Amino acid sequence: MKRLWIETVGCQMNVLDSELVVAALRRQGWGMAATPAEADAVFYNTCSVRQHAEDKIYSALGRVRLEKEQRPDLIVGVLGCMAQKDQSLVRTRAPWVDLVVGPGQLHQVPRLVAAIQAGAGPQLEVSFDRKGKSRDEIARSFESYDPDRDPGMRPTPFQAFVRTQTGCDKFCAFCVVPHVRGPEQARAPDTILAEARKLVDEGCREITLIGQTVNSYRWTDGGRTHRLSDLLARLGGVDGLDRIKFVTNYPRDMTPDLIAAVRDLPKVCHYLHVPAQHGSDAVLARMKRGYTIGEYMEMLARVREELPHAAVTSDFIVGFCGETDAEFQTTLDLVKQAGFKNSFIFKYSPRPGTKAFERLPDDVPEERKKERHRLLLDAQGEASLAGNTPFVGTRQQVLVEGLSTRDEKRDLRPGPDDTAQLTGRTMCDRIVVFDAPLRLVGRLVDIDITAAGAWSLAGIVADGLADAVPLDQVHVHQIAPPPSAKV
Ligand code: SAH
Ligand code: F3S
Repeated sequence: MKRLWIETVGCQMNVLDSELVVAALRRQGWGMAATPAEADAVFYNTCSVRQHAEDKIYSALGRVRLEKEQRPDLIVGVLGCMAQKDQSLVRTRAPWVDLVVGPGQLHQVPRLVAAIQAGAGPQLEVSFDRKGKSRDEIARSFESYDPDRDPGMRPTPFQAFVRTQTGCDKFCAFCVVPHVRGPEQARAPDTILAEARKLVDEGCREITLIGQTVNSYRWTDGGRTHRLSDLLARLGGVDGLDRIKFVTNYPRDMTPDLIAAVRDLPKVCHYLHVPAQHGSDAVLARMKRGYTIGEYMEMLARVREELPHAAVTSDFIVGFCGETDAEFQTTLDLVKQAGFKNSFIFKYSPRPGTKAFERLPDDVPEERKKERHRLLLDAQGEASLAGNTPFVGTRQQVLVEGLSTRDEKRDLRPGPDDTAQLTGRTMCDRIVVFDAPLRLVGRLVDIDITAAGAWSLAGIVADGLADAVPLDQVHVHQIAPPPSAKV
């Protein structure tokens, strides 16, 4: 049996794409290798959103070169966004790479691997660039093959990502995603529903709908338009499914019907990731984000009114082109006032092909970007702690995900009845750490919260509940890295 080793960086889309690639190769008789040294093929599923993510992959390719020199039959593959962005440049920089496949061409991987095995030499498959062809032609060159699922590659057996749409048409000035993932294309609601039902039949309890701007979802058939709120309502009726989440939201598309759906559908988590990106109108305009901070705050006020206990999270970019001290201060003020549960903070990284790269100088020095990053992270830390503290003394329902990072690092091999430090998430996506028997992994458990930190809560299993849970065998899988691990 041939064995594959795959490393995935970047967002949830990539996690799902890797799952699909593995599923497709398994059907061709491939298995998984525990280390690159044992593998017949080593794949990197890559991210282009910031330079740092690409640098890490090129250094990994440098390391795998030695392996390839010893074993010329080893197939080295670069998949995903960096493959689409760099195309033949990948092989110019790393000529020992055999396979370069963009995110819209991943369904071709088994065929391309077979061609390489048959001696056809290096293979490159990417989609069209977003210029020079009609939208339809470009869209068709980004194919999705989501029905191929592999339970073994999911973050956990009881959690899954389901794609609502691919691509993005927003073209924020800093962002490479519309260039590498192509035009926005929705999947049919019936397809999404069928996939969700299948996942639930396989033991899945939580589904996270994913799209670059998930709340822009629109599907029209027979004169009727289906929106994200309609999808949530239909998913809410799937028996056996306990929790539904969706990421990432675009502020302008946070419509009243969606907020009402989150309010009224008991399975939908009260967790909204709605990146603001910046606190200043001038910077938002340079970023071409399509809203003012006043409009963002108005959206936030509607959310707070309808969903007073919802956790809202954001992304921010510091050091964007021309960002002055005063402009940065507006972002700092926003984080101090808005009560975000968490924010993912990034230093601006110029991306070739984007409007910002072409038209605006990257003129904030690296040291200042670092400083602003630290200041904003500190402010968010204080806000997060203030938001978590009121949970102490409350009882929260938690979906238990697996060993905590501490116990994972200790490489314990506990049995189902052994107590370990576990971690799970509340309905509003707060991480909770507690000691409990391992058999609780994959279950909904009530936890009494005893302490709060900025990034997590701690607690104890509420009385009696641990014993009420059936004692069947539960497999432990590594939990997905938190979104802050995004490179
Ligand atoms: N809509 C996507 C966004 C992908 S990029 C989603 O599903 O999350 C994730 C985040 O990376 C963005 O929200 C933005 O804050 C940040 N980002 C994007 N391009 C960037 C760049 N060129 N430099 C720094 N951060 C960037
Ligand atoms: Fe990127 Fe803006 Fe789309 S951040 S993914 S271009 S909404």
